[in-house]
Amino acid sequence: MPIPNIIAIDGPAASGKSTLGRRLADSLGYLFFDTGVMYRAVTWGALLRGLQIGDEIVVTYLAETAQIDVRPPSKDDGRACDVLLDGVDITWETRRTDVEASVSPVSAYSGVRQALASQQRRIGLRGRVVMVGRDIGTVVLPEAGLKIYLDASAEERARRRYEEILQRGGQADYAKILAGVRNRDEIDSTRAFSPLRAAEDAIILDSDKLNADEVFAKVEALCR
Ligand code: CDP
Repeated sequence: MPIPNIIAIDGPAASGKSTLGRRLADSLGYLFFDTGVMYRAVTWGALLRGLQIGDEIVVTYLAETAQIDVRPPSKDDGRACDVLLDGVDITWETRRTDVEASVSPVSAYSGVRQALASQQRRIGLRGRVVMVGRDIGTVVLPEAGLKIYLDASAEERARRRYEEILQRGGQADYAKILAGVRNRDEIDSTRAFSPLRAAEDAIILDSDKLNADEVFAKVEALCR
């Protein structure tokens, strides 16, 4: 079987999708594209401009008109990619806790999703891509040759996010992170437009039972 030209990885917050996706893209020489950063960029733009997150019309207008660029990392400071909003580097702003608290409501707006998903699809259809998100296998690139749905318990995912923040030198509260993860899961999986779910033809992996190396080895074997 040839290596799939388009690989979709979906799953809930902090399930290890980006770690897996980046590693897989590196090993195949493919583009790694993490679609979550686009939703985070729109959310940061809305907060920066003082927009009401609950105002669907203005937030959608922002998603339709903002210039979001995702580029290979220009700095060696732990970033996976550069995220630019209207030419300004906002990579670390997209990881802020206020962005994290508002990103799921923003992502639930159908117009926001249409604006971002059409850009993602255009990039994905060029091929040789590993695209990571919530709706890649179901909506953005249903023709993907390999679809992975990476899951893990909320407790384990919160623990990983907690460690990640500490490793970056930040301060974190495990209970708050767990509550945030659960809240995002709830909004992401119950929204009306492209909710988080596994595609029917996705391979479901539980990363509670597999460490990062084991997940990677399994998916790489599926590719080759
Ligand atoms: O890294 P983490 O898994 O915590 O989140 P992310 O992948 O950066 O995504 C942040 C948020 O963007 C998610 O909680 C979803 O609300 C939204 N998202 C989405 O709706 N669809 C995508 N394809 C990617 C992200």
